[in-house]
Amino acid sequence: MTHQPIRKAVFPVAGLGTRFLPATKAIPKEMLPVVDRPLIQYAVDEAREAGIEQMIFVTGRGKSAIEDHFDIAYELERTMTDRNKDISVLEPTRLGPGNCAYVRQQEPLGLGHAIWCARDIVGDEPFAIFLPDEFMHGSPGCMAQMVEAYHRLGGNMISVLEVPHEKVSSYGVIAPGKSHGAVTEVLGLVEKPKAEYAPSNLIISGRYILQPDVMRVLERQEKGAGGEIQLTDAMAQMIGKQAFHAVTFDGKRYDCGTKVGYIEANLAVALGRPDMADDVRAIALDLLR
Ligand code: G1P
Repeated sequence: MTHQPIRKAVFPVAGLGTRFLPATKAIPKEMLPVVDRPLIQYAVDEAREAGIEQMIFVTGRGKSAIEDHFDIAYELERTMTDRNKDISVLEPTRLGPGNCAYVRQQEPLGLGHAIWCARDIVGDEPFAIFLPDEFMHGSPGCMAQMVEAYHRLGGNMISVLEVPHEKVSSYGVIAPGKSHGAVTEVLGLVEKPKAEYAPSNLIISGRYILQPDVMRVLERQEKGAGGEIQLTDAMAQMIGKQAFHAVTFDGKRYDCGTKVGYIEANLAVALGRPDMADDVRAIALDLLR
């Protein structure tokens, strides 16, 4: 059986980024760089690698730097070309008019509401979601691994990973069923449970492939954890009606929504870069002495 291809991805990027203030007062948190690439660029690259063609950004006030980032910087390119400088580094930042769309979430009503804001552009086809502050590092990327599983199984897919049990209350948590390799059946989902009520320590790690029916569930979704419209609650209602699987990513995940995770990501990426690894290793060792 062939499953409809995943051609569109939604990037909810309207969040205020209060945890990184004052850095994020005037720039979106998604524009914070890991070494020399903004977080949102890694997410878009991961989507492209998985064969996704159209990037849909759910933005808000103060987020126009993201639109500028994925546009053509005419003056910059012209000046660099005139000075014989290589502009190939800008190549991945160019999203042509057919490859990107922007829609605004006007009020911070939650992740579920942010996704629902993209319903008209998503239309009636399965789509991916990326939470850009979950930085998934590996090859093939997390979404490519999920798309591979999706082509075999269809339905809905979420990426999951294990965290220490006391940390589950910050995340969406799955009730796992049977596992086959990296794929686990999802029997239930709960957003930010108290540790003692959590069905497992497998958390949703910010990548989703969902059937368009989720939009119709979101339409009627009541507020959940934190008084917000939760994507997890809407997905939970689809279990039993449609196939629902979790994929454990074979790679590294850095939680760039926290300062320590963000520093870890910078260090890890720098230590993997041939142009700087030796220097960074030397200064890190020196600082730790
Ligand atoms: C969101 C989701 C949650 C998921 C998490 C991953 O929560 O609601 O299910 O586990 O992202 O980072 P948030 O971090 O927006 O509170």
